[in-house]
Amino acid sequence: MEPLAKDRLREIGKGNCGSVWASSEANFCFKREDGGPGRSLHNDYIMHKKVLETLPAEATVQVPNCHEYIGQDDELWWRNQLHRFPKGRQPCNVLITERVPAFSKPVREKLIDLFCPETGKAVIYTSKADEDCIVRPYLGRRRQQRQLVAKSRLKAFGLRNYPLHIDQIQELNLDSAIYATIMADTLAQLFWIAHVDANDLEFVLAPPSSSKSDNVAIMESEILGKHVLWILDFDLCRDMSMDEDGVKQAVNAFLGNDPYYPRPDRDYCKELWTTFKNRFLETSQRILVKGPEALLPLLWVQLVEEKCIELALSRVSANSTSS
Ligand SMILES: Nc1ncnc2c1ncn2[C@@H]1O[C@H](COP(=O)(O)OP(=O)(O)O)[C@@H](O)[C@H]1O
Ligand SMILES: [Mg+2]
Repeated sequence: MEPLAKDRLREIGKGNCGSVWASSEANFCFKREDGGPGRSLHNDYIMHKKVLETLPAEATVQVPNCHEYIGQDDELWWRNQLHRFPKGRQPCNVLITERVPAFSKPVREKLIDLFCPETGKAVIYTSKADEDCIVRPYLGRRRQQRQLVAKSRLKAFGLRNYPLHIDQIQELNLDSAIYATIMADTLAQLFWIAHVDANDLEFVLAPPSSSKSDNVAIMESEILGKHVLWILDFDLCRDMSMDEDGVKQAVNAFLGNDPYYPRPDRDYCKELWTTFKNRFLETSQRILVKGPEALLPLLWVQLVEEKCIELALSRVSANSTSS
């Protein structure tokens, strides 16, 4: 049976665990476990559910709803759904979640006008893939010199998971301190309430959806319009213990993630690191009122700062030996 155009699924994202599919009609999406080995969509489901169930009402980050986990061998489901995927796709494990809404055309056009090299604009304006535009706030990274040179930027330019570096965030007059504050609250709540280490978690800026709870922080900007900070991709998140081992695990997760967070070892985001750190400690203190666990947030901050100093020193010595 040929599916109606509105029912057909289109790939809207891809990662190491799998590919993500949505139809033009619905506000949910299907993550397929068809990526590299060693990744678990079932863990994604368990962690995503746990985060939704444990994040407190005052959370200011938006988390997509998590609908259903479908096994590869769920014959009934696959009999009804396989035809919606392009020919040749086989049944596999699938996770159905709310889709993070993409930015509207006017927002996408502003991003293209500002950041896409002249030679590529016409292509990107009309590209279907670039309609799935969500933005990654990279508070911990500046654009590299080579990304500022128009010619070499085009190859990498795309609006899916568009990396908005700290210098661009400032250029757009976006409030980086608010993003840092929401990230700090979110990590404190994930660590000390959900007991989840946030390993490989993605933060994205995108419009809010109607499922948003009352306390989710809505930001307004001339370029991005109304937007919120979302978190997604829980497949590599792990439980963490409320002790030194758990803290070390969460430190490694923080340092190993893409550069969403401000860091103490980069001159251009040192001040933002202080904002992040103070907020993380305040929120953590409210969660872990007393007892031995109340010392863990400070230990986490100290270990992050120590490791960052080590990393900065090794960068200096690598530069001095190469020059
Ligand atoms: N719920 C969603 N709504 C919109 N886009 C999504 C959603 N989930 C994933 N994506 C997009 O698909 C990409 C890959 O999905 P992700 O969950 O990160 O898979 P992986 O675990 O393979 O990295 C994401 O980086 C994002 O761009
Ligand atoms: Mg991912």
